Amino acid sequence: MKPLFVLLIFTSWTLIGAQNYYQELMDYLENRLLAIEDRMQLWHEQSRQYHTEMLNFKKLTSEAVNVQRNHHSKMLKEMEAASVQADRLEREMDYVETQNSPRACASKAEKVVERAAWGLQERDEADDWEELQSRVSDCIEIISGIRSVKILKRVGGAKGMWTRDPKSSKVYVFNGTSGDTIYQFDSVPDFSRSQGTMNSRTIKLPLKWSGPGAAVYNGYLYYMKGEAGADIQVVKYDLVSGFVTETAMFPMESHSSVYKLNPETVADLAADDEGLWLLYSPSDSEPNINLAKMDAITLDIEQIWDTRCPRENAEAAFVVCGTVYVVYNTRLASRSRVQCVFDVNDKMISEEAPLLYFPRRYGAHASLKYNPEEKQLYGWDDGYQIIYRFTMKRKVLA
Ligand SMILES: *[C@@H]1O[C@H](CO)[C@@H](O)[C@H](O)[C@H]1NC(C)=O
Repeated sequence: MKPLFVLLIFTSWTLIGAQNYYQELMDYLENRLLAIEDRMQLWHEQSRQYHTEMLNFKKLTSEAVNVQRNHHSKMLKEMEAASVQADRLEREMDYVETQNSPRACASKAEKVVERAAWGLQERDEADDWEELQSRVSDCIEIISGIRSVKILKRVGGAKGMWTRDPKSSKVYVFNGTSGDTIYQFDSVPDFSRSQGTMNSRTIKLPLKWSGPGAAVYNGYLYYMKGEAGADIQVVKYDLVSGFVTETAMFPMESHSSVYKLNPETVADLAADDEGLWLLYSPSDSEPNINLAKMDAITLDIEQIWDTRCPRENAEAAFVVCGTVYVVYNTRLASRSRVQCVFDVNDKMISEEAPLLYFPRRYGAHASLKYNPEEKQLYGWDDGYQIIYRFTMKRKVLA
């Protein structure tokens, strides 16, 4: 009996102990759960707060974006308006700057005969070109527009010049901005086909050339010789015999150059139906491009004009029918344009002055050489050789 009693006591005691234990465990768990619940509540609240904040932020940013967008579209509109205004301004400037313009040149019967003879030699070159209508020119033409552009190839460095002798059809390439070597190709297609300067004849000149401002005219090469510190000279070189046949000093400072955007061009020689011209600046303080008419045989200066075309922002110029067309650009090369025209006879109605925009290209023109027989321009742009062809119109005589 006694042991049973003891067992009973023990069991009940154990049971009570276990009950206490469970109770404590339950309490503990409940407390933990409460704590977790509290924390969850807190998280929940926090996340709700974050969410609200996020919504607010979203609202704010979308408002900001909208404001920005409005600003942007307003700015775009303003920019468009500004560009329209700039265009108009450019046109007005063109109008103002081109008060002087082309004129009637004298009729030259013997030239017409010569041209007919050259026409025969040029036959084979005309394949990939539309036949050039050689109008019987009394030189009363002005450029009315750019008809086409042809990019032939890329030979040489950023700066240089190339031109074609109207008489022999030969092509001359001046790579760089100075040197004693030039390259001669038999024709434009020949140049076009050749690998670099491989098919060319290398001509080593006895006097160094300086600046891409040379001209080839009637079998002679005319170019500027100028070494640092030395006087500027015009050199006439016979391309057939290979001799310098004439030189002439020129009244300009050695450090001046004719176009501000191409400072390497000491002075620029140009040949047109009228003969040989020199575009130059007598000194670096002179703001305008000056023009001299030269005797192609003796290199005498016959007459000098102030073209009133500024050197600032000028890139190149060419002479057509006694009229100088100056091409302007900006330092960060954009579209080149003829923005100043000067006619040596001062006989043009200003409305006639053409507004010429060159197509967008790679860089900027280092040189532009006009060929009066083909009425096209040989351009050098960042090493690319480009031909521009013009449409012409007759001058309305004032
Ligand atoms: C042309 O000149 C550039 C530098 O101006 C030079 O790198 C290049 O080799 C020259 N090319 C020829 C064919 O002389």
